[in-house]
Amino acid sequence: MQNFVWAEEMVVIAICGTPGTGKSSLAEKFRSLGFEVVHLTEFVVRNELYQGYDKKRGSYIIDEDRMINALKIVFRDSENVVVEGLGAEILPKDIVDMCIVLTCQPFVLEQRLLERGYGQEKIDENLDAERFGVILADVMANYDKSKIIIIDTTYREMDEIFEDICNELARRGIIGKA
Ligand SMILES: Nc1ncnc2c1ncn2[C@@H]1O[C@H](COP(=O)(O)OP(=O)(O)O)[C@@H](O)[C@H]1O
Ligand SMILES: [Mg+2]
Repeated sequence: MQNFVWAEEMVVIAICGTPGTGKSSLAEKFRSLGFEVVHLTEFVVRNELYQGYDKKRGSYIIDEDRMINALKIVFRDSENVVVEGLGAEILPKDIVDMCIVLTCQPFVLEQRLLERGYGQEKIDENLDAERFGVILADVMANYDKSKIIIIDTTYREMDEIFEDICNELARRGIIGKA
């Protein structure tokens, strides 16, 4: 892979997508380049930034305002940050430089979620969310199209996906090529 140099100004990148599309795996690639990584679910739970717990879904209900305020404090002391996970699609557009949306065809997404041990009901709910482009719609409603990169991960290796993204970030002037 070609060498890339990061912008001198702080960069905030949001990684969005239905569970299983590869957000956490992609974030780790950015970490290897010196980015600080915020896994939102973990961040919300650790800092108790939730309004309650949805027993049926088995997930916390994010307190969006408190989550955003807590993130702003993290960003103040950071260089380059990647924020990944459910909730990244609603971050204020003025604090995000680029939003990457990962997608995956439902047939393959189902295999990934089965391997993760999700129950059928939770799998079906996520497959429908992916079919209907729920996260993608939220991203498109929130961020300007100049800030959105959409990547289909279905039959691609993460290294290849990451290289594509770096090239696209360079093309848009977020990072430079060494
Ligand atoms: N491009 C890919 N090709 C094959 N498997 C992948 C790919 N991206 C992610 N996976 C696998 O799918 C599962 C979910 O990936 P993960 O990064 O945890 O997704 P997310 O954080 O979006 O839920 C993991 O087991 C991961 O290894
Ligand atoms: Mg994840």
